[in-house]
Amino acid sequence: MKVGIIGSGGREHAICFALNKSEKIKQIYCFPGNAGTSKIAENISIDIEDFNRLKNFIISNKIDLVIVGPEKPLVNGIVDFLEEHNINVFGPNKSASQLEGSKIFTKNLCEKYQIPTAKFGIFKDTKGALHFTNKANYPLVIKADGLASGKGVYICENKNDSKIAIKEIFNGKFGIAHNLLVEEFLVGEEMSYFIITDGKTIKKFGTAQDHKRVLEGDLGKNTGGMGAYSPSRLINDELDEKIITRIVEPTIRGLKELGIKYKGFLYVGLMIIKGDPYLIEYNVRMGDPECQTILPKLDSSLLNIFLACCEGKLDQCTIKWLDKKSLCIVVCSKGYPNTFKKKLLIENIEDIKLNADEYLYHAGTTRINNKVFSSGGRVLNFVCLSKDFLEARKKIFNLINKLSWNDGFYRKDIGYKVID
Ligand code: AMP
Ligand code: GLY
Repeated sequence: MKVGIIGSGGREHAICFALNKSEKIKQIYCFPGNAGTSKIAENISIDIEDFNRLKNFIISNKIDLVIVGPEKPLVNGIVDFLEEHNINVFGPNKSASQLEGSKIFTKNLCEKYQIPTAKFGIFKDTKGALHFTNKANYPLVIKADGLASGKGVYICENKNDSKIAIKEIFNGKFGIAHNLLVEEFLVGEEMSYFIITDGKTIKKFGTAQDHKRVLEGDLGKNTGGMGAYSPSRLINDELDEKIITRIVEPTIRGLKELGIKYKGFLYVGLMIIKGDPYLIEYNVRMGDPECQTILPKLDSSLLNIFLACCEGKLDQCTIKWLDKKSLCIVVCSKGYPNTFKKKLLIENIEDIKLNADEYLYHAGTTRINNKVFSSGGRVLNFVCLSKDFLEARKKIFNLINKLSWNDGFYRKDIGYKVID
């Protein structure tokens, strides 16, 4: 069997690595992949927004299954496009991807199906938005409607913050804005919850907590994610049941009533308040670095899970997990998330020996003349499984020390809420 993976980050390397364990797979292609995937797959340099070129390559190389990692091609309808050409694709279609592509779509669904979420208002122009925010209680949250790569969310402490947010959004900072969203500020602890579904059966796919801020103590600018741990310290059977029955099931049912089938991973971003879950956002894909954190715990064939999902037979698939804790630390290029250098040599990366339960996934890397160079801000992901988080983190520190990459940095406090 031949498989294609769309994307080039740590998430896609982790998926590639897990699929490579399957004996059924003869060849993996990554579009465009990174230096890590190039060791186990063939990297194909095609722009992932060029659906037509992707389709032509997939057809002429007789690829049996395509997995889409990132949200942008999903929201832009890559699944619909490839399926029109009879290609087997894992991932939600364009209508289903509105769950991430339009916050207003999701909020309206929440309202219709009484899914717990922050109270909200939708505003079509500056005047209406200002009229509301001038009289509102603070803090409050203002959001752009569409995809904004993790930006486009403003936590406003006062009227002036709101004024700036409204102006920037309607001025097109995150793309043309027809609407914006004003939300009540929820006070609780965040948790990421993952499921996989074929539109009929819903299966749990782990929980995690990530660290989005660049500095230790969860301070400084937002990033794509500096590290994560799984499971979340908040999860228990009772909360699990509430998340499934109050949030996930009504969402999948609501989509079905709109004539939309959801197939793929669904990332449920939650705020947990006094033991009750509230939806903050949906992402129509696995998280990054949550995917790298969760997949090493998977004790079933990822290929079989993807195939069952695409065939609508997820009910017949058992998903087993190792009873271990997992921690992931992201090594970044110095300067990230502001300006940073690229094409920095990572000299001894391929000399690092990994023991059982240790994983090294590449993110922003590229291979030139068989040497590994950085090509992005988030460069490497070190993951360890262990019976406890502290030991997992110590093992990762040992690995990173062996790397001795002077141009990189990482947060030493990942998982502090479950360790210190
Ligand atoms: P989003 O892109 O919607 O996930 O928002 C990004 C981040 O903003 C979330 O991970 C939360 O930390 C924060 N956030 C978003 N909405 C709210 C809210 N209603 N109350 C409190 N924090 C929020
Ligand atoms: N780690 C957050 C995300 O993948 O969106």
